[in-house]
Amino acid sequence: MKRLTVFLLIAVLLLGTGAVSARAETDKAAGIDYLALVNKLNSLPEGWEGALQTVTVTNSVGDEVEVETKAYDAYLALKEDLEENEGIYLELDSARRSVAAQQDIMDRFIEKYGADYAAKTVATPGFSEHHTGLALDLYFKLKGDDGTFTDVYYNEDMVQYPEVWEKIHARLADYGFILRYLNGKEHITGYGYEPWHIRYLDDVNMAMEITEEGLTLEEYLIGTKAPDVTIDLGKSEIFTEEDLSEAIVQIKCAFASWEGCELHSIRYSGDENCTEENLRWLNELNGDGNYTQVAEFLMNLHSPKEQFGAWEADTEYTDYEWWLARGEDSGWEIVTQGYG
Ligand code: DAL
Ligand code: ZN
Repeated sequence: MKRLTVFLLIAVLLLGTGAVSARAETDKAAGIDYLALVNKLNSLPEGWEGALQTVTVTNSVGDEVEVETKAYDAYLALKEDLEENEGIYLELDSARRSVAAQQDIMDRFIEKYGADYAAKTVATPGFSEHHTGLALDLYFKLKGDDGTFTDVYYNEDMVQYPEVWEKIHARLADYGFILRYLNGKEHITGYGYEPWHIRYLDDVNMAMEITEEGLTLEEYLIGTKAPDVTIDLGKSEIFTEEDLSEAIVQIKCAFASWEGCELHSIRYSGDENCTEENLRWLNELNGDGNYTQVAEFLMNLHSPKEQFGAWEADTEYTDYEWWLARGEDSGWEIVTQGYG
C-alpha cells in the first residue's frame, strides 16, 4: 500500500499579513481602504466596521441587503445602464455580511456539500470579502415579451445564462467594479468561478486595467501576473472531463493558501491508480469517508523564493501527489497529499 507523507502547509496558512493590510491600517483615519485585500490569507482589516458607512435596501424577494454607500451608488448606475441598454434587471442578493452570518452559510454548506466543496465556495468567517460591504452578489430579472419578469436567483439557474453574465461583466469596470473570482484563476483567488460576485474598487481606471489585463485583485496588488497553468485531464474511462475538472478546481482552491508558491501544472495520473487498494487506503485514512471512488492528481509547483517551512527555497517540485475521493452522492474530498 502506498503511504504518503503529508507535507507542511499549516505554517503556510499562518503567513498572510504584508503590505496590503498595512496600507488599510494607515488609511483608516480617512475612511475605508477601497483596495483592501480580503481573501483566504488576509482577514478583514481591524477597525473596518468603525469606518464603514452603509445603506440597507430590500431586494425583489424581500430580503434586506446592506451595502457600502459608494458601492451602492455605483451599483445603481450599473443597474440603470443594464436596464436601459440590455434589458437586464439587476438585483442584489447579498452584500455586507457579519462574521456570524458567514458562519451560518458555512455551516449549511459543510452539512450539505462537505468541507472541501464548502472551502471552494464559501469563505471562512472573518476572511470573507463580504465583510467589507464592497463585495456584491448579483442576481437578475429577465423581462419577457409579454412584459412579465422572471427572477433568475439560484446559483444553478444563474450559471445557465453565460450570455447575460457576459453583458453584465462587460460594463462592470465603467462603474468601478471588477469580477472577483475568475474562471481558471482559482489557485490565486482560492474560490471557484462566481459570475455573480463583484467587488467595488472606487476607481474606474484601475477597474478597467484589471479587467482588460484579465487580472485578479491579488495579482494587481502584487504587481505580477501569475503564469498560465497547464491542465492535463488525460484519458479516463471512469470519470467525465467535468468530474476531473471539478476535482482540479478543488485542488487549485486549496493551493491558493500556499503563499509564495507558484502553480505550474496539474494532471490526472490515470485510471490505473483508481484501485480497490487505494480506495481502501483512503477510507482508512478518513474513518467517516464512505468513499466509492478515488483519483490521484500530480502537481508541478515552484516553492517560495526564501526558504519557508518544509519547502527548499526557489525549487521546482514535480509530481507532488494529491489523492481525492468521493462517495455515492457527495463531492470530491482532498484526503491526503504529499510525496510517497
Ligand atoms: N462566496 C465568497 C467566496 C464568500 O463566501 O465570501
Ligand atoms: Zn459573494
